[in-house]
Amino acid sequence: MRDCGFLTPVTENFLHAYGVGKVAFELALKFNVDPETAFIAGSLHDLGGAIPDSNRVEVAESLGIELFQEEREVPMLVHAKQGDYFAQVLFGIESHDVLDSIRYHTTCIDNASNLVKIIFIADKIHWDRNGEPPYLKGLLNALDRSLDEGCCYFLEWLWNSDLYVVHPFLVRSYGYYLKGQNFQALTRETRNVYVSEDIKKKYFLNEIVCEFQKAFGMGEKASELFPKGSDSFNKAFIAAVLSNSANTIFENQRQYVANKFGLKTGHETNESLLPKLSHYFAKNRFGIDDPELLQAILYHQQKSDCENEICYSVKIAYQKIHKEETK
Ligand SMILES: [Fe+2]
Ligand SMILES: [Fe+2]
Repeated sequence: MRDCGFLTPVTENFLHAYGVGKVAFELALKFNVDPETAFIAGSLHDLGGAIPDSNRVEVAESLGIELFQEEREVPMLVHAKQGDYFAQVLFGIESHDVLDSIRYHTTCIDNASNLVKIIFIADKIHWDRNGEPPYLKGLLNALDRSLDEGCCYFLEWLWNSDLYVVHPFLVRSYGYYLKGQNFQALTRETRNVYVSEDIKKKYFLNEIVCEFQKAFGMGEKASELFPKGSDSFNKAFIAAVLSNSANTIFENQRQYVANKFGLKTGHETNESLLPKLSHYFAKNRFGIDDPELLQAILYHQQKSDCENEICYSVKIAYQKIHKEETK
């Protein structure tokens, strides 16, 4: 996990989630995939990370998730299947493409869709550790040529790194993309998915769902003011969802965190610090440099007029979602 010392693991996890979502959104625009779907899939890819390593196998078994021996040996690997399961049961996601993109985000898979490849790559570009990933430059160069070349580049790097175990899905991906091998098609079993209230409570799943739904809800409300697929539709969506990136910083920590980042805060309330922090993350963690988007994120809670339509749409979305929240 990335660590700058004064953000909680929960906030770091959300920043990683939205960061992967934002990279997936951009790759989707480049490779003709629906960018909003890519953002949602990217944001939810590590949903299974809500279960700590020590309990992963036990929880997976209680949910009826079938595990490979390699996943029992390295429980961290279970989080991808757990994320797929939680996306179905907690978010009602039925799209096999979205669910597969979560399931295969660490390994990719043979015959993958563009969305699956995008989430696999986005997770590696916006990595969740400190510093720059050692493969980043090569991966970006390969991606400039094609999405498949990007996947091949990273799979080669991964295959030659020090792996504790080689996941069976990785064997298929490496075989298919690098060696031209074919495998018997995988089928997704239809099953009833269910998570008990005990598990939801123990791992704060309701709170996690609530946070994501607030962000996705704002994205939907802001973008619906524009024709679907237009530049403004996409911009309103990404500005609105990323306006929520600082929400998990506790009220009594916001001033402290703002000071740590060197933000000028003046006489701010804890509430008005949130847009400043989201603006900071948009610029510094997500690499947003479009002034329209940055303005929309910074001013989304203010009642005053705004200069651009994106800013206006994000304000409207915030007011609608915030009203629903305080009802
Ligand atoms: Fe992951
Ligand atoms: Fe991740």
